[in-house]
Amino acid sequence: DNGGYEHYLLKEISEQPDTVARTLRGRIDDRFHIAHLGGLNMDARETRSFRRVKIIGCGSAYYSGQMGAQLIEELARIPADAEPASEFRYRSPVVEPDTLYVAISQSGETYDTLAAVQELKRKGGRVLGIVNTVGSAIARETDGGIYLHAGPEVSVASTKAFTSTAVAFALLALHLGRVRDLSPADGRRICEGLRRLPEQIKEILTLEDRIRDLAKKYADSPGMMFVGRVRGYPVAREGAQKLKEISYVHAEAYPASELKHGPLALISPELPTVAIVPDDELLDKNLTTLGEIRARHGRILMVGHRTSEAADDCIVVPKNEVELDPILLTIPLQLFAYHAAVALERDVDRPRNLAKSVTVE
Ligand code: BG6
Repeated sequence: DNGGYEHYLLKEISEQPDTVARTLRGRIDDRFHIAHLGGLNMDARETRSFRRVKIIGCGSAYYSGQMGAQLIEELARIPADAEPASEFRYRSPVVEPDTLYVAISQSGETYDTLAAVQELKRKGGRVLGIVNTVGSAIARETDGGIYLHAGPEVSVASTKAFTSTAVAFALLALHLGRVRDLSPADGRRICEGLRRLPEQIKEILTLEDRIRDLAKKYADSPGMMFVGRVRGYPVAREGAQKLKEISYVHAEAYPASELKHGPLALISPELPTVAIVPDDELLDKNLTTLGEIRARHGRILMVGHRTSEAADDCIVVPKNEVELDPILLTIPLQLFAYHAAVALERDVDRPRNLAKSVTVE
């Protein structure tokens, strides 16, 4: 049942105030500013013992893992990184006892991710799952984890599972941080920020008409560049992924800082850039990058917390805590990809050549 929406994708994008609230429900402790994650099956001592976090997943799950790695590094100060599960399982990874492994999967059935989890288990690795589908293969194979409770995701391109996964990572990062050096004050700041997300997502959804107009304006470009720095980079990658999956417009994501080391050669009026520009300590650097794109006659759609003369168009979203802003910045890009796909008359919910979950090798 698509609930009166023209496509499941739009329904699932629109559900996010509720799905994010469901991922958070019962998991924030306002007294001690910690997260309650009963499904992890780890005591405080074990939780403190990890010296690294390695995150694996495929497609959008991998990009949400990159966002998660950043949250864990920032809030818990544990070195963390994400890698496609498909790569991880084929390169004979070094499995270490003091590394916490986290496997992400909406369906819980993606074969590459499952095979990576099984290989980790064979080598004695401690693996958590961040999974939407209760009782799925990956949920069963992992030692514990966090269920998203986002409800079934029908459209092939992931939206609500992506944001809920990022929220689950924020909770995990808060949890890992508060048994380490994250102060009660910072814990409180994050708890309050998490609670604000559903209302702020609602506000972003009211921008849909404007985003539709922008999608129409940019959708006939032969390709688009997506750039972001540090916290903005996983947002750019997921934004590019959404656009290519459902609209078939070529989209490439780059760290904004890498532009001048190659892709700047591509910038022209025919290749517009979507720039993720949050109000954080990198704002000035990002605005300088916009100037460099401008100087090459590149058109710019800026997504951030303010408008700028350096951009042709701006989408301004509500501000949260810097660590949580990437979650909100992802949502206008989902709407952008959706409306680009509709404008190009694509099969939005069932894009060509793709499957919702790839259960074969
Ligand atoms: C891909 C889907 O094949 O699998 C993506 O097309 C999805 O949308 C990816 O992100 C991973 O799926 P899952 O279920 O493991 O999160």
